[in-house]
Amino acid sequence: MTAPATVAGAAGATPAAAADRKIVAFCCRECAYAAADASANARTPLPPSVRLVLMPCTGRVSPLHLLSALAEGADGVMVAGCLLGQCHYREGNFNAVDRVAFVQRLLKSVGVEPERCQMFTMSAGEPPRFAAAVREIDRVIGGLPPLPRSEAGTRGAA
Ligand code: FES
Repeated sequence: MTAPATVAGAAGATPAAAADRKIVAFCCRECAYAAADASANARTPLPPSVRLVLMPCTGRVSPLHLLSALAEGADGVMVAGCLLGQCHYREGNFNAVDRVAFVQRLLKSVGVEPERCQMFTMSAGEPPRFAAAVREIDRVIGGLPPLPRSEAGTRGAA
């Protein structure tokens, strides 16, 4: 079992308060959500910042899902799916890797930290790997300042 990729937080950033930050995790049903479920059943403590969204496959996650979550209040987004080569829909997670990389480039081009969007992979039988992924993105997002938004970009704005 390997640990999730590490991304350093922005140097000198004013961290978002742990209670305030929000991370949306798009999880494929077959592996990541199953690992999350097993993790919850084992009563593994997880950061309260993470909200799970059940997806049939990470191949169903579009850049629009990720950007909309960030635009509507999330400080970070993660996509969690099956191990590469083990997607139950063949190539869904390879498509997700490309889309996450696309969103990272897009964020960087507009001056937003690309590490706010990350991809993780795991098998259904690896709840500790899911927990490690969630803790990792919580650590990274916790090291970044709150994501600034214009009034027009926030939910409920006139
Ligand atoms: Fe898990 Fe496709 S079914 S990533």
